Amino acid sequence: MIFNRNETKEVVVLLGAGSMGTAIIRRFAAGRKILFGDISQANLDRVCEEFTRSGYDAEGMIVNAMDRESIEQFAAKAASLGDVKYYVHTAGASPSQGTPEHILKLDMTGTGYAVDAFGKVMAAGGAGLIISSQTGYMFPIPYDVEQTILNTPTEELKNISWITDNATRSGTAYMIAKRINHLQAMKAAATSWKERRARINTLSPGIIVTPLAYDEFNAPGNTYQKMIDASSAMRTASSDEIAEAGAFLLGEHAGFITGTDLLMDGGVISAIRTGAYSLR
Ligand SMILES: NC(=O)c1ccc[n+]([C@@H]2O[C@H](COP(=O)([O-])OP(=O)(O)OC[C@H]3O[C@@H](n4cnc5c(N)ncnc54)[C@H](O)[C@@H]3O)[C@@H](O)[C@H]2O)c1
Repeated sequence: MIFNRNETKEVVVLLGAGSMGTAIIRRFAAGRKILFGDISQANLDRVCEEFTRSGYDAEGMIVNAMDRESIEQFAAKAASLGDVKYYVHTAGASPSQGTPEHILKLDMTGTGYAVDAFGKVMAAGGAGLIISSQTGYMFPIPYDVEQTILNTPTEELKNISWITDNATRSGTAYMIAKRINHLQAMKAAATSWKERRARINTLSPGIIVTPLAYDEFNAPGNTYQKMIDASSAMRTASSDEIAEAGAFLLGEHAGFITGTDLLMDGGVISAIRTGAYSLR
């Protein structure tokens, strides 16, 4: 049975085939070719099976988001399948899932590799979305350091002394990496992605119930519960709510939005900034 005879499909790409990413991709999958990338073969098998059985045209590729070459091969594969219209990046590790070095390598440098690689293959009119985090607002980076970051190639970010001096714990490494994601999208929107006439933004979720979040719920200190209680929404959110916002940022109604971040945290950062809640 041939479900779809359209052979010139646009390509939708997801790196990090987890909860939030697949929820976003579902909004753009119809009639298009989906390419999933993940470090886990089991994850790829599961999502490819799930999407294929739902009538979508999906395939998977093992990718290590900490390895430039692996990401460049992934981008080349995507381009070989057709016009790369959407790129979604959700490959990441939370503070409980890795050392500071691992988090910087994956959440900061790996994201930079992907933004660089897809900045060479995006189709005109295409759009990209990097999933950052509300934590990108929790550990401010001084303005002059941000300017240095904006002017530093991805490979050399790890050598910036302010980063190595401050990212000594997994929590701060994560906060810093997630703020740097905002800067990576800002820079790409003004340079490589602009040249390809493609848009790129970040989305910074608060606490979203996914397997990754469960690792944080189980971390010592009960911080997540305290944040939920202090927030305006007083609840967590689901991957489907993130997909709503992601679909907006990637879609045509956001055609004038590029190089910016959308904070979607139920009011956690408002509580912190106004002193209603303290991280300490
Ligand atoms: N869940 C939350 O509460 C929350 C909140 C804010 C931000 N985030 C961020 O959202 C993103 C997605 O999180 P999620 O909750 O959907 O998690 P998830 O665990 O469901 O998805 C992450 C995916 O990334 C993959 N991955 C991990 N390391 C990789 C590597 N080296 N190369 C390729 N793939 C790799 C995992 O196998 C997994 O499939 C992450 O960047 C996370 O930091 C999550």
